[in-house]
Amino acid sequence: MAKHETPLLDQLEGGPWPSFVSDLKHQAETKPEVYDILGQLELSYKDRITHWKHGGIVGVFGYGGGIVGRYSDVPEQFPGVEHFHTIRVAQPASKYYSTENLRKLMDLWEKHGSAVTNMHGSTGDIILLGCRTEALEPFFWDLTHEMGQDLGGSGSNLRTPECCLGTSRCEWSCYDTQETCYHLTMHYQDEIHRPAFPYKFKFKFSGCANDCVAAIARSDISVIGTWRDEIRIDQAAVKEYIAGNYPSNGGSHSGRDWGPFDIQKEVIDLCPTECMWMEGDELKIDDKECTRCMHCINVLPRALRPGADQGASILVGAKAPILDGAQMSTLIVPFMKIEKENEFE
Ligand code: HEM
Ligand code: HEM
Ligand code: SF4
Ligand code: SF4
Repeated sequence: MAKHETPLLDQLEGGPWPSFVSDLKHQAETKPEVYDILGQLELSYKDRITHWKHGGIVGVFGYGGGIVGRYSDVPEQFPGVEHFHTIRVAQPASKYYSTENLRKLMDLWEKHGSAVTNMHGSTGDIILLGCRTEALEPFFWDLTHEMGQDLGGSGSNLRTPECCLGTSRCEWSCYDTQETCYHLTMHYQDEIHRPAFPYKFKFKFSGCANDCVAAIARSDISVIGTWRDEIRIDQAAVKEYIAGNYPSNGGSHSGRDWGPFDIQKEVIDLCPTECMWMEGDELKIDDKECTRCMHCINVLPRALRPGADQGASILVGAKAPILDGAQMSTLIVPFMKIEKENEFE
């Protein structure tokens, strides 16, 4: 597989940003089939049509998902991408890796595939781009036997569940998102690997309403941490914020010239349910009206904390139809406890 002339793609290397074209050229030095990705893409730019063939089902024995079949429609010209299947590998909860694990995975992918990756796909999986049909089973054998890792979901099945950092690093997490995500991943193995639904299905887990994995916009079942008692207030710290001794938003707006901190403007007036007010120098909250949106807590993290009686809200049905745009999921269960003892149920 030889290098192709790619004048159109080369233009994408000119800007100030990192370029996938440069990355692919670099990769091609050790994986010559990657020259054919560039060649085929150049031809697509020229012809203004994709040269990936539509359709083509491939997989590994016993699984109905995890591999997305992909073939070139000009294989004589670009034999390196005649087959170029995508493999989805389940990511660890919150995407915590050890260097050892990553090295092993990449060694495996260099051995069996093109070595091109997308870390991570928007579904959360590790996406390995470019494998020939005959290399799928050997890769799968090594992945499951040597690394103890598994394929993720694709097609009309349960997709690999995804979670925020949760209690591992975030003090706002109202339940253990990692443990819950892991538990449900193990519980629903069958649904992940053998398509049982008429369409894809996603679970996503965020520890609080900041919703760092965008569960509310991207999942059929969103589990979002919340509390049912009262926001914990440290009035002394509120005073420090008002006096300008503590930076608001954990200092993330430092350096911007927004003038001195104004609790009325930046917190009370922005509370979506208008349930906050000052009484003298004390901050008051009518917790019955509070929707647990996290805004005030984000601005005053040293003064305010989620309540102590914590759990999660369950929402269903987010989708993003092309014409209507993103639609948020609908609240079904306002509050439930989520604990290991009751098996997260
Ligand atoms: C015939 C060509 C292709 C077809 C039919 C195709 C189709 C798809 C489909 C159906 C998905 C799943 C979307 C979902 O989550 O529901 C997907 C995801 C994706 N594809 Fe493609 N694709 C093609 C080529 C490519 C190529 C050439 C690349 C990159 C070089 C690519 C990169 C991706 C990425 C990064 C994702 C996202 C994976 C994720 O978010 O988990 N695709 N594609
Ligand atoms: C002005 C141009 C672009 C805009 C405004 C744009 C915007 C976006 C946005 C908003 C998302 C996030 C969607 C989400 O919330 O999940 C996204 C994701 C993505 N974009 Fe773009 N994009 C642009 C160009 C491109 C180009 C040129 C490529 C590839 C060559 C690309 C590849 C992707 C991929 C692969 C993802 C999914 C990332 C993932 O797997 O998590 N985008 N883009
Ligand atoms: S969603 Fe909430 S708990 Fe999870 S990482 Fe983001 S801020 Fe922290
Ligand atoms: S969490 Fe949101 S709704 Fe509740 S008091 Fe704070 S800003 Fe208002």
